[in-house]
Amino acid sequence: MRTPLIAGNWKMNGLPDEAEALLTALKAAEKGRADMLVCPPATVLFEAQAILTGTHIEWGAQNVYPAEKGAYTGEISPAMLSALGCTYAICGHSERRQLLGETDEFIRRKVAALLEAHLTPILCVGETADERAAGKTEAVIRRELEEGLAGLTPRGSDIVIAYEPVWAIGSGAAATAEDAEAVCGFIRRVLSEMLGEDADNVRILYGGSVTSANISDLLAEADIDGALVGGASLKAAEFISIYDKAKA
Ligand code: PGA
Repeated sequence: MRTPLIAGNWKMNGLPDEAEALLTALKAAEKGRADMLVCPPATVLFEAQAILTGTHIEWGAQNVYPAEKGAYTGEISPAMLSALGCTYAICGHSERRQLLGETDEFIRRKVAALLEAHLTPILCVGETADERAAGKTEAVIRRELEEGLAGLTPRGSDIVIAYEPVWAIGSGAAATAEDAEAVCGFIRRVLSEMLGEDADNVRILYGGSVTSANISDLLAEADIDGALVGGASLKAAEFISIYDKAKA
């Protein structure tokens, strides 16, 4: 079935010496029946490649620009990420949607460019607190999925969806396993409208204040296949503990 995926999203954290210490410490994690991924800032992907090559840990990017090359000052292409050994890239994180105004259409182009380059997109979707209070959670998730994947026909195993309720990110108040499963199950139903039975091969992660204390309950749910971990991924022992619980 689906192998659990524990992915660390470092966000804008990790100077080279900090990255080296954290990546080196992660190497102590023993491989089990779960995959581990780290998404550090682009400035230390080279270090990730140097330190993690030959281990079971994969590394990926937090962002990508949807073009092969050219006049896109400051941006990084899928091929550049591949050249650094990346296998995944996050797209559509709510921080980029909110702070940088990324639209569903722009995110769709990133997903397409990543698939084209044989990188696995981790497409993030999630409602704000106001949207949830207004009963719009499913409508928001459906729109982000349908527009983020519009016109694309990926194999289920070639994409990852991260359900990240915006109100749970960095708040210390994760969704309950039950609430997270309600939305992750809905995500799989929407995916099955798009991909048919292959939706069963898509890994759906939960993200938002995941810790070693709540990961087991989350992973016990049928449609939660892993976690996208922010703050807790910056502490090696905590991230390894989350991974250990996922592989158990
Ligand atoms: P958090 O962040 O674990 O710090 O809540 C998750 C994310 O934004 O991916």
